[in-house]
Amino acid sequence: MAEGSYVRANGRFLPTSLYDRSIAITMREGAWRPRLVREVLSGDPRDVLDLGCGTGTLAIAMARAPGRAQITGIDGDEEILDLARKKEGSHGIEFVRGLADALPFHDGSFDRVVCSLLLHHLEPAVKRAALAEARRVLRRGGRLHVADFGRSQDPVMRILFAGLQVLDGFANTADHPAGRLPAMIATAGFQSVGRTLALRTAWGSFELLNADR
Ligand SMILES: C[S@@+](CC[C@H](N)C(=O)[O-])C[C@H]1O[C@@H](n2cnc3c(N)ncnc32)[C@H](O)[C@@H]1O
Repeated sequence: MAEGSYVRANGRFLPTSLYDRSIAITMREGAWRPRLVREVLSGDPRDVLDLGCGTGTLAIAMARAPGRAQITGIDGDEEILDLARKKEGSHGIEFVRGLADALPFHDGSFDRVVCSLLLHHLEPAVKRAALAEARRVLRRGGRLHVADFGRSQDPVMRILFAGLQVLDGFANTADHPAGRLPAMIATAGFQSVGRTLALRTAWGSFELLNADR
């Protein structure tokens, strides 16, 4: 990815140390994180990759859930990985530094890849490359899960998303309110792209998508 285009967890202006609090206040986590955990772990997968894992909230929730899943979290920001590694419940999770468009894993290493609030940080070419990488590291029969901003449901949602664009950037976020994410996932070679949840949040319309490798 281009030098300087990396968008950290809390956007271009706010410190990473405030990320968990910002998300708790604005993103209605209780309405989607537990559901995302259930969806990702459905079918009792063995190897799960949390791509753009940030502070590890989702990885830890998946590690605590019943089942045999071995969780790997990857993120490009060493500072946020330090926060994740220090969190209660992170023991047993492998946290790795790496970029979404150049994953340091062999083909077919995972049964599930989940990207939660990652894709709107990536410019279109990097988003496409990251989706291709997600598909490459998935096993046959594997599944991609995406939690991110989607087509704006109404003008209020679009205006709120404009606030997020000021914080996180415009080029990387433009595909989301335009509703282009499902088509981008399909273009990366995934099948049966579906939406399981659409939510209104303080930053605009948010959705859970999934697709088969
Ligand atoms: C908004 S945070 C989401 C964190 C977490 N998945 C969650 O649900 O709370 C986005 C994360 O993506 C990471 N990130 C951004 N660009 C990346 C890239 N190109 N490769 C890997 N991680 C990236 C950031 O460092 C940040 O931790």
